[in-house]
Amino acid sequence: MAMLRFDDEGAKRTDRLYASPDVVAQRNAVLSLLAPQPGERVLDVGSGPGYLLESIARAVGATGAVRGLDPSAAMNSLAADRVADLAWVTLDEGDAAALPYPDGSFDAAVSTQVYEYVPDVPAALAELRRVLRTGGRALILDTDADSLVWHTSDLDRNRRVLEAWDEHLAHPRLPRVLSALLRRAGFRVTEHHVHPIANPALTPDSFSATQMHIIAEFVSGRRGVTAAEAEAWLADLQALGEAGEYFYCLNRYLFTAVAE
Ligand SMILES: C[S@@+](CC[C@H](N)C(=O)[O-])C[C@H]1O[C@@H](n2cnc3c(N)ncnc32)[C@H](O)[C@@H]1O
Repeated sequence: MAMLRFDDEGAKRTDRLYASPDVVAQRNAVLSLLAPQPGERVLDVGSGPGYLLESIARAVGATGAVRGLDPSAAMNSLAADRVADLAWVTLDEGDAAALPYPDGSFDAAVSTQVYEYVPDVPAALAELRRVLRTGGRALILDTDADSLVWHTSDLDRNRRVLEAWDEHLAHPRLPRVLSALLRRAGFRVTEHHVHPIANPALTPDSFSATQMHIIAEFVSGRRGVTAAEAEAWLADLQALGEAGEYFYCLNRYLFTAVAE
């Protein structure tokens, strides 16, 4: 099973998607819950294109220290450009399940849309706990595939397309078990929030307008979905958009926790 690849092209596509107003609103929700303070040491696990990293770095300022970690060189390169003038940010290539930092290195850590890609989530959460100081805060955001409501003309085709799309993640339904996994890793879970990405119309800058192309390309040839079916699925969504009959809504689940 090949998951989504964050090579040069994949990283650029994610970069475009993450500049959309829907994802900007999501980042603002994350930032207000994480509330990074001047002088803090903050880790972003799976920092990707670095938008959140940049905002956290501006919040902690030059007396703080921010580290972004990602296994993708292409992602780190995008992030490096974004934080080039912020000397207190460091980027590391690495994996969430083997963090290259000493125990208790950080006051806070964040990871958005990352653990759902990580094969061994308990190992990664144990690592997160290890590198946070006792009393340090964690914020994790992931998606549950079953929270997606997407209006299409062919329910059966839509179901098969989305089942094939599930293969882009190691854990498409992680949020429902994340509280228990966090507790087992030595965290006290403090808050749960739901952040919907709602697109009641198909506009060019909406999250789902870009995501539908990524999905159509990914599912083509997987789990019995042919290239022609993927194209027909895409064309149907676009026709519904033009007819004013479009609807898309997907939930992000946010968890805040304290290292015990
Ligand atoms: C959907 S992107 C999210 C990027 C960023 N956190 C954000 O919200 O803007 C997923 C990121 O997770 C990274 N990733 C995938 N597997 C990982 C792992 N095992 N450890 C750390 N990061 C990983 C990918 O390289 C990619 O940058």
